[in-house]
Amino acid sequence: MRIILLGPPGAGKGTQAVRLVERLGIPQLSTGDMLRAAVAAGTPVGVKAKAVMDRGELVSDDIVVGIIADRIEEADARKGFILDGFPRTVAQAEAFDAMLAEKGLKLDAVIEFKVNEHELVGRIVKRAEEAKARGEQVRKDDNPEVFKTRLDAYHSQTAPLSAYYEAKGMLKTVDGMRPIDEVTRAVREILER
Ligand code: AP5
Repeated sequence: MRIILLGPPGAGKGTQAVRLVERLGIPQLSTGDMLRAAVAAGTPVGVKAKAVMDRGELVSDDIVVGIIADRIEEADARKGFILDGFPRTVAQAEAFDAMLAEKGLKLDAVIEFKVNEHELVGRIVKRAEEAKARGEQVRKDDNPEVFKTRLDAYHSQTAPLSAYYEAKGMLKTVDGMRPIDEVTRAVREILER
């Protein structure tokens, strides 16, 4: 299966992607995780991405499209994959469609999580507090100020993807305000349909 998880920062894309990995045996492709790994390793992509990510803005389309184009070529992605955080702009979605068409592949589902802004900020603040309490590194973009920029980027650049996939008859929405297990159940029902 090839699945896209859409939604604002903190909506639960990563949480649900991990559960889908366990159930479906296909990899989670998180551009956020891949970019954070590149930043930590100090690669040329990481050096370019770091300041942009710390500000809560989007990394350029050509960088992330290049990352995904390489990643879906890897052996573990042949059976399918769960995209978490990609695409994030209409240009990325169009580039991804062209990639799939070139390989004769199709998307199976686009699932969008709907969560209100107050809840999103609360989740991000809680995640930062919990990471700190465990003595782990807190994401530089997990604070209310940077979160505002992340949300603005979501509204201006990512939200148009709902209409993009709706027009293709692909979009399914899930109430992401519900408890994690209930969201998982709703996702499973969509994929079993
Ligand atoms: P990225 O890493 O993709 O972060 P994000 O989309 O901003 O989202 P998060 O990872 O914070 O949230 P999520 O929806 O995965 O929620 P999660 O499951 O973690 O991107 C980071 C940056 O990288 C971007 O700002 C950009 O700079 C760059 N980038 C990445 N991809 C890019 C692209 N394609 N193009 C350009 N730039 C790109 O959950 C959050 C918290 O809520 C957790 O603590 C979780 O336990 C909790 N939670 C989850 N579900 C529930 C629930 N149902 N109820 C209660 N709590 C819940």
